[in-house]
This record gives sequence, structure tokens and C-alpha cells, in this order.
Amino acid sequence: MPTPLPLQTVVAHTGRVTVARRQQLLHQRPVTVWLTGLSGAGKSTLAYEMEQRLHDQGLSSFVLDGDNLRHNLNRDLGFTPEERQENIRRVAEVAALMNDAGLIVFTALISPCLADRAMARSIIGSARFIEVHVSTALKVCEDRDPKGLYNKARSGLIPMFTGISAPYEPPDEPHIRVDAGQCSVSEAAAQILDYLQQQSVLA
Ligand code: ADX
Repeated sequence: MPTPLPLQTVVAHTGRVTVARRQQLLHQRPVTVWLTGLSGAGKSTLAYEMEQRLHDQGLSSFVLDGDNLRHNLNRDLGFTPEERQENIRRVAEVAALMNDAGLIVFTALISPCLADRAMARSIIGSARFIEVHVSTALKVCEDRDPKGLYNKARSGLIPMFTGISAPYEPPDEPHIRVDAGQCSVSEAAAQILDYLQQQSVLA
């Protein structure tokens, strides 16, 4: 990791277009919907479903998907606890910038540690952080195994695999909990949309 510059030598600039003005322009309140859950729980499917539904309503959102970001922004990171923490920190910083730009953000990361999700909340700001636990059971994820990773993890080919050889700490009090093993993508998306409406995220 490069050594950070001493902050005293870097002076920040402030633009004149405020978040409030961007909010008026886009007719939406920018929030980050942070989807956490096991690999194969349905986080990405749900995030892209939400993105499409909002787009169809004329609202601007963007998905930050863990798998995708590990091919570009986070390609230098693996799956040790420290690397996952850095993965989550970077994604939270990007989500915060996108919120500053007025966008609604959906993140789809396992984000297995309570402390790392608390860090994400503090970077993004608790007023615009909505935690969604995609609580699909391990057995369901493993039976589905869409990428064949659980099979490899059980055979010892993938070390530190969440749910198998690395821990997942579920949130105690998420804003929303959806079990994609028990309900359809459409029902889960409707549940999240309802919540966003209640929270005046959507105009
Ligand atoms: S996180 O733990 O740092 O939040 P992230 O969501 O970015 O993880 O990436 C998880 C994805 O990487 C999984 O969906 C899976 O496809 C893949 N993956 C590869 N190795 C592992 C591993 N050891 N543990 C969990 N997921 C892994």
C-alpha cells in the first residue's frame, strides 16, 4: 500500500453545486443501499433488478458489484480480513462520491464483518446508508452454487471462503432483511422499493 501524503500539504477544493441542488435536479435523495450476504445469496441479481426498476421510473442509480470491482479498482486485493476491509473501504468511498454526485447506489459485496460494515456506514454517513441483509441460507447458496465456488471451497481449492472456511457476521438490525431463498427477486425488489419510498428516496 503506498504511504499516504501528509494531509497538511493537500488543500481540498469545494464546488458551488451542492448535494441539495443535485437532489433537486435529479428528483431523488441519494442514498447507498448496502447489500450484504453470502456468495450466491442473490445480492447482484437484486441490485441490478433495483437499478433497472429505478431507471424505468426515470431515476438515476448505479451498482457497485464486488465481483466486477475485483477485476478493476480492487484487482490488487485478495480475501484476507485486511484485504476485505480495504475492499470495503474503497467501495464505500466510491459510493460516497456517487452519492455526492446525486446518484442512488446499490453495493453488492459479501462484506462479512460487522466492523467493516460499520466503517462503510461511517464513510457514507448514517443518514444515507441503508443496510440490506440478503439472508439466503448457506445451504441454499451452496446447493445453487452458480459459480461452482462452494464445491471448490469444500474441496480445499479456495481458502478463506466465506461461510465455509471464513466467517460471516450477519447484521443484528439491518434496515431490511430479504431471504432470496424464500421469495422471488421481484418480491424482494418490491420490499426494497417500498422502503425507499417510505424514506422519501424516490420523488
Ligand atoms: S468481500 O468479502 O470482500 O466483501 P466481495 O463481495 O468483494 O467479497 O467478493 C466476493 C466474490 O468473490 C464472491 O461472490 C465470489 O464470487 C468470489 N470469491 C473468490 N474467493 C472468495 C473467497 N475466499 N471468499 C468469498 N468469495 C470469494
